[in-house]
Amino acid sequence: MSRKILILPGDHIGPEIMTEAVKVLDLVNERFKLDLSLDHALLGGAAIDACGVPLPEETLTKARASDAILLGAVGGPEWDKLERHLRPERGLLGLRSELQLFGNLRPALLYPQLAEASSLKAELVAGLDILIVRELTGGIYFGEPRGIRTLDNGERQGYNTYVYSESEIRRIGHLAFSLARQRDKRVCSVDKSNVLEVTVLWREVMEEVARDYPDVELTHMYVDNAAMQLVRAPKQFDVLVTGNMFGDILSDAAAMLTGSIGMLPSASLDQQGRGMYEPCHGSAPDIAGKGIANPLATILSVAMMLRYTLNEVPAAEAIEQAVSAVLDQGLRTADIHSGDYQRVSTSEMGEAVIRALQA
Ligand code: NAI
Ligand code: MG
Repeated sequence: MSRKILILPGDHIGPEIMTEAVKVLDLVNERFKLDLSLDHALLGGAAIDACGVPLPEETLTKARASDAILLGAVGGPEWDKLERHLRPERGLLGLRSELQLFGNLRPALLYPQLAEASSLKAELVAGLDILIVRELTGGIYFGEPRGIRTLDNGERQGYNTYVYSESEIRRIGHLAFSLARQRDKRVCSVDKSNVLEVTVLWREVMEEVARDYPDVELTHMYVDNAAMQLVRAPKQFDVLVTGNMFGDILSDAAAMLTGSIGMLPSASLDQQGRGMYEPCHGSAPDIAGKGIANPLATILSVAMMLRYTLNEVPAAEAIEQAVSAVLDQGLRTADIHSGDYQRVSTSEMGEAVIRALQA
């Protein structure tokens, strides 16, 4: 049976990078006989302009019927003046929570060809390959009650609630351990159990999950130490698993170790392994329409989709090898360009990946 992929180009550079990613997807679809059928829908600013809301019903219906979603990026200054619930980002958040995409995977992988772009010394990051598994639909970002209230003395007080239930911790734990099994078999669970009760429970449940994976090593680290270790000696990690807020912060820090936001893909998975795949960067309005955006993060998101949702590992590896090959050829978009390398446009980079795949 044919599997359905929903394409959401989004705003600004979104459609530019998506054009290249879809070319790559079309090619591997044919070459590896994947039997994927592609459909398109609107999300974010593009949806607001066409129908007044960031997440139209039609998009949600198509998303629910898809095996996987490939997203460019949404947002831009022209929609910033809208009310909060009508902004482009609400479309993305709405999709994540409607589809229960609780497991956010952010690999921080350093391509040896880009070692000089890292914020750390080359020897600290050479061969870096870590995977951050962030819980995405719970924790302090969603806990109730939340708000800003006025106290009896007239002073205002802001408050949020940090909650995780055992089942929420268990399912992100299982995801992290099963991913570690396909890698270096080490999970480091990040918490703040010396201060926060929520994460005392987090640690307990992670220990319980670990018993199902005797071949995978579990260690624990407090989040402040994890932040320090990520910039001191990042190669000590294989898989890091953590809650929503800690994961948000640690994954951005880890991203900088690899040099460019234009190279980083991500996945957000549901309980059945279906997922939404997107680059880590935003819609980059400052460079939109110039043909200079780096399409590789989106192309690598296609590879993640093939690996994690569609179970088409050879096709995923072919794309990853093609990306590595174009870097070996010395081709660089502006964001990763330096020195004597050959500077190429968005479409030239996409074409180079296609040629490498055909080689
Ligand atoms: P951004 O990631 O769009 O841009 C940050 C910087 O990185 C800019 O200088 C941009 O030119 C550069 N950049 C980003 N992607 C690039 C690429 N593929 N190639 C080359 N350079 C690239 O973040 P920013 O500026 O904070 O946000 C811009 C808009 O994107 C906002 O409306 C924001 O809300 C939205 N956004 C959307 C996200 C999503 O759709 N998942 C995630 C983050 C931001
Ligand atoms: Mg962030």
